[in-house]
Amino acid sequence: MNVVITGANRGLGFGFVQHYLAQGCEVWACYRSGPDQLENIDADRLHPVQWDVREDKPASFATEAGFPDRIDLLINNAGIYGPKDGSGQALATVTAETMMEVFDVDCVGPLRVVQTLLPRVTRAQGTIANLSSKMGSSGDNGSGGCYAYRAAKAALVIVSKSMAVDLAPEGVRVITLHPGWVRTEMTRHSGLIDVETSVGGMTTVISNADDYEPGAFVAYDGQIVPF
Ligand SMILES: NC(=O)c1ccc[n+]([C@@H]2O[C@H](COP(=O)([O-])OP(=O)(O)OC[C@H]3O[C@@H](n4cnc5c(N)ncnc54)[C@H](OP(=O)(O)O)[C@@H]3O)[C@@H](O)[C@H]2O)c1
Repeated sequence: MNVVITGANRGLGFGFVQHYLAQGCEVWACYRSGPDQLENIDADRLHPVQWDVREDKPASFATEAGFPDRIDLLINNAGIYGPKDGSGQALATVTAETMMEVFDVDCVGPLRVVQTLLPRVTRAQGTIANLSSKMGSSGDNGSGGCYAYRAAKAALVIVSKSMAVDLAPEGVRVITLHPGWVRTEMTRHSGLIDVETSVGGMTTVISNADDYEPGAFVAYDGQIVPF
């Protein structure tokens, strides 16, 4: 199975890399700035690719970067939270620049990646998994704030749903995931669960993607997230 993962050098992305390599898959592990933890893996089936998802790539990129003709699973994992201090995403102080920056990475980024790799995913009648967050759920928002991250992840749920509807006739499954609150750099390692638990759950959901409606928003424990 050919698997592509963005933001794969650390955190959940690296957890996905370890999981799918252990399953015997060929893994194209994309990183923004540096390969970091990927450098500690010695496996012929690991293919590191430098890819900042803010960049609009030329049509030749997928071939030049060495992506396979058929992609069975594409995981749009790369993401940023934006400012983590209290005022950085508060109503009175969040800036247009912050809103646009987080939107560019967390919502437009996955869209760019899918547009770039779509013929390869379609050829394999593959699966696309987009990592959103419960923070992007309107139904789950009882605490307000976090304007940039909530808005970008909510928008990704919508984009992911449209992808699911558009690609279903092509035999491509699209699912939106919530990883849980996970101990990574994004949460300053303050989450409730570890990367292995989150990735173990999400990969099970991905394997069972046919059991869910196209574009369903599903947490790592298999529960539907209301949005
Ligand atoms: N951890 C949680 O509790 C939690 C909860 C809900 C949703 N999520 C979502 O799960 C995903 C992974 O989160 P995480 O906790 O593993 O975060 P993380 O530890 O902060 O890792 C984020 C990854 O995304 C990459 N990235 C950031 N901007 C990028 C860009 N422009 N292009 C390509 N890659 C980029 C980072 O690369 P660099 O190392 O180069 O910065 C890093 O590899 C994110 O989409 C996040 O929003 C996480």
